[in-house]
Amino acid sequence: MSDQLSHFQETFTTFNRISDSLREAYSELRDRVEEVGNLEQLAALGEMAAGIAHEIRNPLNAVEGFAGLLHRRLAGTDPQSAEYASKVLAGVRDANAIITDLLDFARPAELSREPVDLRALVAEVLAEVTSPDVRTELTVQGAPELQGDARRLRQAVRNLVLNADQALSGAGELVVTIERVGRDVVLRFEDDGPGIAPSVRDRLFHPFVTTKSEGTGLGLAMVHKIAMQHGGRVSCPERTRGACFELRLRDREVSHAD
Ligand SMILES: Nc1ncnc2c1ncn2[C@@H]1O[C@H](COP(=O)(O)OP(=O)(O)OP(=O)(O)O)[C@@H](O)[C@H]1O
Ligand SMILES: [Mg+2]
Repeated sequence: MSDQLSHFQETFTTFNRISDSLREAYSELRDRVEEVGNLEQLAALGEMAAGIAHEIRNPLNAVEGFAGLLHRRLAGTDPQSAEYASKVLAGVRDANAIITDLLDFARPAELSREPVDLRALVAEVLAEVTSPDVRTELTVQGAPELQGDARRLRQAVRNLVLNADQALSGAGELVVTIERVGRDVVLRFEDDGPGIAPSVRDRLFHPFVTTKSEGTGLGLAMVHKIAMQHGGRVSCPERTRGACFELRLRDREVSHAD
């Protein structure tokens, strides 16, 4: 057992070191992002961050495996050490969640092109993500299908719906409209929550901009990137009540000759 414990202490120290450097790298990155103005530079910065994140992930997974094993072994015999092991596990999971966001954000843009039914996609995300007391409505005008990358489009829609749901903190209304406008499909997400905080309004789509204590601020940056990859854009038109996001996508079938 003492052998196990010394392994454990070693693991714990390694984890703390990794976690400290990750936190430092993350806050440095946030500071740099404040200084950098344009989104291309931000993308380059994101790629660099992803490189680092990738390197950290391997030792982190080893720590997670080992802490999990220790937790299982110690649970019956040494509850206090088991408690330490579960703290390590929780910390590793937090760190891993940040890394996943960073890697997702900086992943090279290889888009797949497949038929996507946006009506079905939005309906699924609404059912999956919204809280029980959030009333949702989906209206479709014109053909809601296009050629695009289904996984990425789902992620963009998910980030927007999740933001609305969080803004409504449990109850309210989210109205989604899908409208065909020539070669474009426009998705509009309107909620009757508190609206966009003035402090973040002009930097909404920049990475790491967040008003949430648990947020990484990568959600809308990701939506922006996915919209660009689909020859479109995302915007946040002013509203007197609630918040509105407009995601415009170009059908990749007709745009490839561009
Ligand atoms: N529907 C909304 N209503 C009000 N504010 C919003 C809405 N959507 C986004 N915001 C504001 O924009 C900020 C940035 O959103 P974004 O999705 O990029 O990051 P986040 O939600 O804070 O964190 P993450 O998505 O990484 O968990 C939010 O923190 C919030 O202040
Ligand atoms: Mg978000």
